[in-house]
Parts: sequence; C-alpha cells; structure tokens
Amino acid sequence: MTDRPQRAHRDFLVISDFTKSEIDGLFGLAERMRCGEYTSKPLAGKTLGMIFTKSSTRTRVSFEVGAYQLGGHALFLATRDVQLGRGEPVADTARVLSRMVDGIVIRTFAHSEIEELARHADVPVIDGLTDLQHPCQILADLLTVRQHLGTIKDRKIAWIGDGNNMANSWIDAADVLGFELALACPEGYDPDEALFARAKAAGNVTLHRDPRDAVSGAHVVNTDVWASMGQEEEQKIRERAFSGFTVDATLMKLASRDAIFLHCLPAHRGEEVSAEVIDGPQSRVWDEAENRLHIQKAIMAVLMGGERLG
Ligand code: CP
Ligand code: NVA
Repeated sequence: MTDRPQRAHRDFLVISDFTKSEIDGLFGLAERMRCGEYTSKPLAGKTLGMIFTKSSTRTRVSFEVGAYQLGGHALFLATRDVQLGRGEPVADTARVLSRMVDGIVIRTFAHSEIEELARHADVPVIDGLTDLQHPCQILADLLTVRQHLGTIKDRKIAWIGDGNNMANSWIDAADVLGFELALACPEGYDPDEALFARAKAAGNVTLHRDPRDAVSGAHVVNTDVWASMGQEEEQKIRERAFSGFTVDATLMKLASRDAIFLHCLPAHRGEEVSAEVIDGPQSRVWDEAENRLHIQKAIMAVLMGGERLG
C-alpha cells in the first residue's frame, strides 16, 4: 500500500510546535470563546477521533464538548476497544483514521507513539498527554495566569514536585514564551534533560532541590501528583522521595502576596498539596480546569477548522 500525498496540516505535539505570536493568537481566540463572543462553527460536518490509552476526565470531556460546541462531532476510541489495543500498528491506525476523521487527539504512554501516529496521519494530531508532555494543559494553565494576573511576561512560575510530563511542557513553554520558571524536584526526579538544557541555555529555567527556593517571590505556584498514570506501583517509594514537597500554607507564604495556586488535577489532598491550599482563596484550579475547554476549542478551530491566528 502507498500513502496518499500528504495534505497540508499541522500537528500539536509539543508547545514549541507554535510560535510565541501564534500562542498569543490562541489565547486571544480562547478568550473570545470564554466570554461567548465567538459563535462560529468551524468544525461543522467534521469529526475528531479521540484515542485514549490512559484514563481521563478533563481532557476527554473538554475535547468532546468543545468539538460539539464548534459544530463538529467527537468519537471516543478507548484503545482496549479498538484494534490498536490488539496490536494493529499505529501507522495503519493513522492511515485508516485519516480517511474518515478530520483530526485526532491521542493520550498514551510513549511520546514516540504520538510521533509515529503524526508521521502517518494526514490529518492534524493533537497531544492529549504522554509520559513526556502535556501541552494542552500548559496552554490552559497559561490562559489561567493571563485571566487572573493579566500577563505572563515578568511573572515567576514555580513548579514543585515531579519532573514529569507537566514539568516538561512548562519548560518548553518557558523556552518559547520567555517567562521565568523555577522548578524544585527531588534528586532522581528531574525533568527531561534535553528540554531542560535547551531552556536553561536561554536563561529561562532554574532547577532547585529545596521547594522554598523555587517558590520564593513566585506569582504562580504549581504542582502535580507524585505518581503519574502508569507509576502507581511506585506510590510508596515516591511518597518518601517527595517528603517535604507538599505545597501547604507555609510554603505559599513565601510566594508573592497575590500568588495563585494551580494544579492540573486530579489532586491528592495531603500529598502534593494540602486541602487548605487547593480549597483556599489562592487556588484557581476550577478556572484552570474550565480553561481546558476554551483553549482546546481554539486549538481545534485553528488546526481543524481553518481559523486564522492573529
Ligand atoms: N488534567 C488532566 O489532563 O485531567 P484528565 O486526566 O482528567 O484529562
Ligand atoms: N502527571 C499526571 C498528569 C495527569 C493529568 C499524569 O501523567 O498522570
């Protein structure tokens, strides 16, 4: 079998697939969607295929609802229910879905699987989370920072905890957008070395071992679970390794007075964050979750619906 000639399309696998001005354009579009000003239906007659190998509440619901609100349709494909789960190659899945759907979002383990899918698909592929990246979430987080702090420029963002998919996408975002990102990770739980080295060379990121150093003067304090999906068996080991990394009221006091707290959710109260912080006045986690819907609609409108940026 030969592939059809590639159609012109763009994927969104990592934050750096967009330029700074394109990301600003996405934020502008998402804001218009949030305030109800945007009423176009750029996905009319179009279908989004959604391949999920891992669990999801926010990502799944925001893409499904978002596609519907833009006039389109979303098709949820749990890996275990499709032939991909029985060993059909990713490349073949990409070729077949490309003949029937207009875009694909995928949540899986290995980032290389998403890259393989994108190589063989001739419709846009969107990263719904891998072990390496969670770019849609970080765009929603940045939208939340804009919403509550007005601007991202000149803001210090602190990341406390695991150097995981979330941390990596924050690093990529700091590199593209040029804000200050201070990470605190226990030894052995550092973020991706190559991503970190690139952003560090540009002077945008620092890595600390003491959470107090990262949080000091920060405008945004951000954390995530200590054991991500697929790492459940490491829970006990990680609880020991991350001792002292809980974002609690004492730590929040070191941040800027008007600092906000973010968490991509799901959260484990009493582990990476205290209930007092996540349920307290500085927390913006519910707006953050809602912003998944607005930013993903903006991404779909641009990649699948022909909406222009800027
Ligand atoms: N934050 C996030 O991606 O949530 P879900 O795992 O529920 O999609
Ligand atoms: N780091 C977490 C994010 C969940 C949205 C995980 O991968 O499970």
